[in-house]
Amino acid sequence: MLKAAVCVSGGGTNLQAIMDALKDGRITNTELVGVFSNNPNAYALTRAQNGGIPCKALSPRDFPQRKEFEDAFLATIREWDPDLIVLAGFLVIIPEEMIRIYRGRIINIHPSLIPSFCGTGFYGLKVHEEALKRGVKVTGATVHFVDEGTDTGRIIAQKAVEVLPGDTPEVLQKRVMEQAEWILLPKAIDDIANGRIQSPE
Ligand code: GRF
Repeated sequence: MLKAAVCVSGGGTNLQAIMDALKDGRITNTELVGVFSNNPNAYALTRAQNGGIPCKALSPRDFPQRKEFEDAFLATIREWDPDLIVLAGFLVIIPEEMIRIYRGRIINIHPSLIPSFCGTGFYGLKVHEEALKRGVKVTGATVHFVDEGTDTGRIIAQKAVEVLPGDTPEVLQKRVMEQAEWILLPKAIDDIANGRIQSPE
């Protein structure tokens, strides 16, 4: 049984997609052992509580030093002792010590076809604003392993989504979530839980 911890910062629609997939059997052999957020007001925490999943929220603002927040974040994760850490709309840079300890066991969902529209500063609506500004006809989402870089780890899966005339960033974001993110992330977790994906060496 794969123990998965999920890290969130916002609305938690990707977390909800994981919870729904567990309920309807699209994810097997997996248990959600905890949900962590850097934002105590994240609606994702309400979703987790509704699903009976242990939650912890720690805001960096509550700590005098960033390192103290990072140490508390890592201690929370280690308490849950996950086999896999899933970053689902998580806007915090992962501490290097966490990447070292959980190397090959942290995955992230990014709302573009990496290597396009990714890296520092590319998150949330900004990704879709840039895609529309560039005039791409196809965008999508990517699930990848997390390494020391930003959106640079080995790609696990991608799914393309059409950009339509008149799309706004909000409309495009919703389409990418519905047609790509909410499908890719649960499938990646199920594939890892059932040995169909090996973590990078
Ligand atoms: C979305 O833009 C998603 O693409 C990205 O994080 C944002 C919030 O996702 N991964 P969620 O609704 O909190 O899962």
